[in-house]
Amino acid sequence: MEPFEKLVSLLDYPMYVVTTRSDDEAAGCLVGFTSQVSIGPPRFLVGLSERNHTYRVAKRASHLAVHVVPREHAELARLFGSETGDRTDKFARCEWESGPHGMPILADAAGWFVGEVLSRYDMGDHVGHLLEPVAGSAPEKFEQLVTFSDVRDLEPGHEA
Ligand SMILES: Cc1cc2nc3c(=O)[nH]c(=O)nc-3n(C[C@H](O)[C@H](O)[C@H](O)COP(=O)(O)O)c2cc1C
Repeated sequence: MEPFEKLVSLLDYPMYVVTTRSDDEAAGCLVGFTSQVSIGPPRFLVGLSERNHTYRVAKRASHLAVHVVPREHAELARLFGSETGDRTDKFARCEWESGPHGMPILADAAGWFVGEVLSRYDMGDHVGHLLEPVAGSAPEKFEQLVTFSDVRDLEPGHEA
């Protein structure tokens, strides 16, 4: 539906790098399809494309880590959005450490949280992962963050 596609292309919203790990395999990609969906209990929904390497690892994972990216480290968004773990070891090309529940935590993120995957939903060509936040780190305030308008021209590592 053209008006819908036009409308959503004009919106701007935060972009996230979502990482995960299962069976010692780390994965992560740039994600725009997200939202907080409940306050009490706190819940957050992450949409992962079935084509992505990240989805295939997330399928077997108990948790996801959701990072917001400062504009000064926009290269992180480019790395995770335009390369695929099927061909590139993204984690060899950025700084990270193992955090809560073994989740890869990116050193240059402005803030992050780890969420337990409570359930998964077929949403079309993306699979919704409903998260319960269980750990995280937030600054007093954010400087400028990477948003959709910064990365809309990026060529995704996988077709959506
Ligand atoms: C602007 C933009 C938004 C994106 N949003 C999502 C998204 O919401 N969910 C998703 O799974 N992939 C999204 N992607 C695509 C992945 O980040 C991209 O295909 C990535 O290279 C996949 O890496 P992987 O195969 O290692 O998982 C987006 C890419 C861009 C450029």
